[in-house]
Amino acid sequence: MAKLYVNEKKKKGYINPEIYGHFSEHLGRCIYEGLFVGEDSHIPNKNGMRTDVVEALKRLQIPVLRWPGGCFADEYHWKDGIGPKEGRKRMVNTHWGGVVEDNSFGTHEFFELCEQLGCKTYINGNVGSGTVQEMSEWVEYMTFDGVSPMAELRRRNGREEPWRVDYFGVGNENWGCGGNMTPEYYANLYRRYQTYVRHYDKAAPVKKICGGPNADDDNWTKKVLETCYAKPNPGGKNFSGFMDGLSLHYYVVPGDWEHKGSATGFDEADWYKTMHKALYMEELIKLHGAIMDQYDPDKKIGLIVDEWGDWFDVEPGTNPGFLYQQNTMRDALVAAVSLNIFNRHCDRVKMACIAQMVNVLQSVILTEDERMLLTPTYHVFHMYRGHQGAELVESSLSVEGTVGVEGYEVPALQESVSVREDGTVLVTLANLSVREACPVELMLTEKKPETVKAAILTGKMQAHNTFEEPDRVKEEEFQDVALTERGVRFTIPACSVVSLEIR
Ligand code: AHR
Repeated sequence: MAKLYVNEKKKKGYINPEIYGHFSEHLGRCIYEGLFVGEDSHIPNKNGMRTDVVEALKRLQIPVLRWPGGCFADEYHWKDGIGPKEGRKRMVNTHWGGVVEDNSFGTHEFFELCEQLGCKTYINGNVGSGTVQEMSEWVEYMTFDGVSPMAELRRRNGREEPWRVDYFGVGNENWGCGGNMTPEYYANLYRRYQTYVRHYDKAAPVKKICGGPNADDDNWTKKVLETCYAKPNPGGKNFSGFMDGLSLHYYVVPGDWEHKGSATGFDEADWYKTMHKALYMEELIKLHGAIMDQYDPDKKIGLIVDEWGDWFDVEPGTNPGFLYQQNTMRDALVAAVSLNIFNRHCDRVKMACIAQMVNVLQSVILTEDERMLLTPTYHVFHMYRGHQGAELVESSLSVEGTVGVEGYEVPALQESVSVREDGTVLVTLANLSVREACPVELMLTEKKPETVKAAILTGKMQAHNTFEEPDRVKEEEFQDVALTERGVRFTIPACSVVSLEIR
């Protein structure tokens, strides 16, 4: 029997909705086919965006979308993607599959997509192969309302009003595909480039994201903060400091980069290895968070985990450069534990973007021509959506022992708990054990529970949805939950994710 103690009175921090963010890159079939099919497509669409996909995404209450990359961002020249479509450059996507990029999805289309989704915008600029002028003109094009060459160009292209850019990333993975830079070199470039990311709309300053470390590279974090950290100065010129966020990228790869492992054909040892690696996210947040605390003890700068998720071998027969993989209950559990970790560290983690939204890596949606399916990861995001904008509260689990295989032991259960404005307590709980169900006694501190609404996602470890059977794994009502004097009692099945809304 596990005991889950919840102190709903002890607030631990605001869960920024952007923790439930997504990432979409010009990679494989994410943008083209997955999100954007063009107005002339036989697939139903609104202004070129797939209606079925947009409708499904709206049910997740997507808070923010990052675009256009990824590695693609440091090769992207935004002027190629504006103006009449027939005049747009056709070119090769050198990073991803060597396919033709026709630039039919560009700046205007991105904002159209975000408008349809009702989400915030996160644009990633080009430092690796772009100039300061190019980056500063892009910001001017998107956000300036007055008289200027770029604002006029935007108007000539059919958009009178400026758009709102909520976040702007200054380069991507500049330690790797974004220019193979040293931290010292990037840090100096960052200082320079970010200067020209102007806040044209003083009421809605663009939040600037500095390119952060790869996984556990704490030297990068130290060097970059040492050079770039500047205290916000609300009355002065640099009123937002040099940065509002520092990114972190970490992927869960059960094997090595040469042989990552199959998305669907895996055994229990692979399962626990994957869970072990997913839980490592917490160590990374602590590692980089401790360095950030030295410069920014008031936690003004967010740790922005703008790429995370499982990375497996591509599906057999698909383009290796497209990174298309299936999604099983293993992905669902990785999503559940990762989101629980982000919630629990919401004092520092201000945004996280799963990689990637559709058809690439750990996607919430897969498409095949006009067909679409929701992955197990989608259902986890749906079950967790109530945490967005809620207050994290204190919780602690008392559970005996661990589960796993030698070297990859993990705690069986993992949770996070928040309270919404109306007093509803939302508990999300994952059972990482492949075999053992676990009885749970959940106890609140003061609240006398009156009702509980519960949902469950469960299945065999390799269970997944296919275009022939799209509903094999889906969120269902969880009925076997009993209200007690002080909380609720239930048994969480093996390999499951449960959400409980207690009123
Ligand atoms: O998400 C796929 C790739 O992974 C991104 O383009 C890059 O930033 C990372 O290495």
